[in-house]
Amino acid sequence: MAAGPSPLDVPECTAYRKFQLWGVSMETAISAEGLRKRYAEHEVLRGIDLAVGAGEVLGLLGPNGAGKTTIVRILATLLPPDAGKVTVAGYDLAREPKEIRRRIGLTGQYAAVDAVLTGRENLRLIGVLLGLGKRKARARADELLEQFDLADAADRPSRSYSGGMRRRLDLAASLVATPSVLFLDEPTTGLDVTSRQLLWQMVRQQVDSGVSVLLTTQYLEEADQLADRLVVLDKGTLIAEGTPEELKRKVGGERLEVSVATAAELPAVVKAVADASADPPRWTRRPVASPSRWSAAWTPSPRSRPS
Ligand SMILES: Nc1ncnc2c1ncn2[C@@H]1O[C@H](COP(=O)(O)OP(=O)(O)O)[C@@H](O)[C@H]1O
Ligand SMILES: [Mg+2]
Repeated sequence: MAAGPSPLDVPECTAYRKFQLWGVSMETAISAEGLRKRYAEHEVLRGIDLAVGAGEVLGLLGPNGAGKTTIVRILATLLPPDAGKVTVAGYDLAREPKEIRRRIGLTGQYAAVDAVLTGRENLRLIGVLLGLGKRKARARADELLEQFDLADAADRPSRSYSGGMRRRLDLAASLVATPSVLFLDEPTTGLDVTSRQLLWQMVRQQVDSGVSVLLTTQYLEEADQLADRLVVLDKGTLIAEGTPEELKRKVGGERLEVSVATAAELPAVVKAVADASADPPRWTRRPVASPSRWSAAWTPSPRSRPS
């Protein structure tokens, strides 16, 4: 990583301390502390602390409107925060945004490639705009088209690409400058299963080559596939963090649902399940289908689950 103030030199940064608690002793690729943003009366980010280690994938999971894109836009220098201390790739967001821009790639939520240009032209153009020079831009474009399985479609206008191909071209476009930190904002939203899996594979290749990633997603499955750690964002506040395994355990992966013909049968069912389990079941009852049938759902408490 290039010279510059390292987040490691900032012991008062709580995001960094939190990061250390995870027992990971590596340089932080992204560190944000006390990040706030409001639009008029609407407080979109209410004090966000997060850290991404070098070579790590942090998943930022949250529903529509939670503030994911706002966080990405701030960290990628596209939107000024109202408050907060941020470093990306070792550079201070407020003082050295240009240095940050040189070292990051961003694949936004919506495809940003030019629809009229071919895949190859899109990538070459970006290379030239980034100052690679024509020859290097051409070579880099060819390399990326190959890597992202777009070589066959390289000379077709990108408007003729499928959704999955466009997202792959978009990802390739964000990698022209070989960034060390990559922002992926809902990279597979709206894609079919096959395209999604292909894109995941390509993100994994980047991670294997040492790129640090902040990935936003609405899908726990996607976060589970790609992220080393997860933070969950809701209405501008981080409400949970952990490894995908830890979070799945917290939200309850196991659920037993039984339906009985009459409510009178329920006590016997409850007893049978309780006898078969070391865990005192927590039951919820609700009528199903016809009013004479009842269903009960049992969710084991987290402490009793195997870790
Ligand atoms: N430029 C803007 N002006 C006003 N409100 C905005 C603006 N950009 C985003 N918002 C609001 O901020 C909230 C968070 O948006 P966003 O960060 O896009 O969420 P997400 O990416 O998690 O869906 C939403 O309620 C959205 O309407
Ligand atoms: Mg968004």
